[in-house]
Order: sequence, then structure tokens, then C-alpha cells
Amino acid sequence: MTSIDSLHPVRLPGRRCLLREWDDADLVTLHPLISDPRVVERVLDEAPPSLAEIRAALPAWRRAAQEAPRLSYRLVAVSADRLVGLGTLTVTSPEHRRGEIGYVIHPDHWGRGLGTEIAGLLLRLAFAQVGLHRVEATARPDHVASWRVLEKVGMRREGSSRDHLFVRGAWWDSVRYGVLATDRWPAG
Ligand SMILES: CC(C)(COP(=O)(O)OP(=O)(O)OC[C@H]1O[C@@H](n2cnc3c(N)ncnc32)[C@H](O)[C@@H]1OP(=O)(O)O)[C@@H](O)C(=O)NCCC(=O)NCCS
Repeated sequence: MTSIDSLHPVRLPGRRCLLREWDDADLVTLHPLISDPRVVERVLDEAPPSLAEIRAALPAWRRAAQEAPRLSYRLVAVSADRLVGLGTLTVTSPEHRRGEIGYVIHPDHWGRGLGTEIAGLLLRLAFAQVGLHRVEATARPDHVASWRVLEKVGMRREGSSRDHLFVRGAWWDSVRYGVLATDRWPAG
């Protein structure tokens, strides 16, 4: 991976939204988005961070975005100047050119194709720009919308992991998805 070194700032234009680096002004809309109960019940994190915790994390996020090699891409999705979602790409193994994607759409914008577009843009970033060979994603077995997003961008269900995550006091199974740079993924 050579291009990984200088990939900042990232700007990925799509038909419905633009994925770009976040800036400080995004915080006021970012926090309500990740704290929305309809989002919280679906994501795989223990609890959403408070606004103060996000502010405290900002310097580390900013440093991580400028590190070489860059392993963390936290991007915001903007449509008509409004923050409508988030997309993340994490390089989980530079050695094995492997990464993982994640996404969150504001509930006001669900069902309009944004999740699919953001996942597709993240795959294009991962394969065409970062130079990864394999990208993975995880969803809950009952989270139809998320696994539809993954299947629509060409990711394959590769299996499931029992009691994969311990979240909010309970064990959760996961369905595991993967796609290779050499697969026929729609954005490729
Ligand atoms: C999952 C999520 C990203 C989907 O985003 P979205 O913008 O609504 O998705 P899209 O509009 O691109 O739709 C993708 C597919 O999911 C289907 N879908 C959307 N919501 C659905 C639902 N509640 N039940 C079943 N299918 C659903 C759509 O119909 C579409 O499939 P189709 O083209 O075959 O009809 C969004 O609901 C979300 O942000 N949820 C909270 C955060 C989250 O769960 N993140 C992922 C954690 S693994």
C-alpha cells in the first residue's frame, strides 16, 4: 500500500451525498445523530459518546487522520449542506491489506439509498485509493436494512459468529460480510 500515506483530506462525491472529512462545525449535528435512540439501538457500540467525550477525542481523531500510514477514515456525509450520515473505514491490518466499513444515516433520511451510496463510496476508497485487498463488515442477524446495504454493494455473507459481541449487557450474534478487490463489486 503506497497511496495510504498521503490520503488526507478525503472527498468522495456521490449522486446523493458527498463524503468528506469532518470539521469542528459538524459537531453540533454529529452528536444528536449518533445519540438518536433509533440509531443507538442498532449500532454495535456500548453507548454513544457524550458531546464532551467527542470534543475530548477530537485531537486524537485529527492526528489519526494525518498519520502515515493512515488507518482510520471517519467521514461525514453531506447533502444540500446538511449532515445526513457518517461513514467509516478502518484499516484493521495494513500487513494483510484488510479493512472494515461502518455507516450511520440520520433516521430522517432512511430508505432513500444513502446507506447504499455511502457503503459503495467507502469500498471505492478502500480498493481504488487505499489499496486494500479485503473489506469486511458486521451486522446483527435481524438488521435487515444493514445487510441489504452490504449485499447491494456486492459484499457476500461469509458466515455468522455466535455471541460475537457483548453489548449493553447481552451477547449478540453477528453476521459477517466480506468483499475482495478482485470481486465484482458494483462501484468497481
Ligand atoms: C442501516 C442503515 C444504514 C440503512 O440506510 P438507508 O439509507 O436507509 O439504506 P438504503 O436506503 O440504501 O436501503 C438499503 C436497503 O435496505 C432496505 N431497508 C431499509 N430499511 C429497511 C428496513 N427497516 N427493513 C427492511 N429493509 C430495509 C431498503 O429497502 C434497501 O433494499 P432494497 O433496495 O432491496 O429495497 C440505516 O437504517 C441506519 O443508519 N441505521 C442505524 C445505524 C446502523 O444500523 N448502522 C449499521 C450498523 S451495522
